[in-house]
Amino acid sequence: MEVARETDTAAILRFQRQDPEADWSGRPQLYVARLGGRVVGWAWIDERGADDELFPGVSIWTLGVRTPFRGMGLGAALVGAAIERAQAGGHERVSVVVRAGNDPAVALYQKLGFDRHRTPALDAYLERRRALGVDSIVFVRWL
Ligand SMILES: CC(C)(COP(=O)(O)OP(=O)(O)OC[C@H]1O[C@@H](n2cnc3c(N)ncnc32)[C@H](O)[C@@H]1OP(=O)(O)O)[C@@H](O)C(=O)NCCC(=O)NCCS
Repeated sequence: MEVARETDTAAILRFQRQDPEADWSGRPQLYVARLGGRVVGWAWIDERGADDELFPGVSIWTLGVRTPFRGMGLGAALVGAAIERAQAGGHERVSVVVRAGNDPAVALYQKLGFDRHRTPALDAYLERRRALGVDSIVFVRWL
């Protein structure tokens, strides 16, 4: 797992645009998983101050593994990179927004110690997403 090169970014930006209602207000960094030099998985990993109202600490956005390469542990490794980054930065949590009904993603996060998390501010954020037609849940892994 490594921070993406400039040349990786264009291809993956297409995937990012499929989730326009995500919160891109931070300065996320793109991480990629490579097999044989080819990018087969990615995640935007954001790091915000402890005073951020919605996503303090580290958050994961638009995690994806190309279909033929799923079930090999790459998704877990990308989430692991986010957890490591949070530990290195002295943060107390990693957050992720998951679409309701995305059972593989929910199973992945639960396996890695994430639990559903709610605050009034997050409920308001999720309500705004719902108004855009996206029903989502916030999961948090406490460190
Ligand atoms: C969710 C996703 C990233 C998982 O990636 P992956 O590389 O296949 O996941 P891993 O191989 O690391 O799986 C780790 C664990 O997640 C869970 N999991 C992953 N895929 C699963 C599935 N289809 N059904 C049930 N559990 C699943 C399992 O607990 C698995 O552990 P196990 O293999 O020991 O059973 C992948 O399915 C994907 O890209 N989906 C489309 C995009 C998406 O939904 N992203 C999530 C945005 S929040």
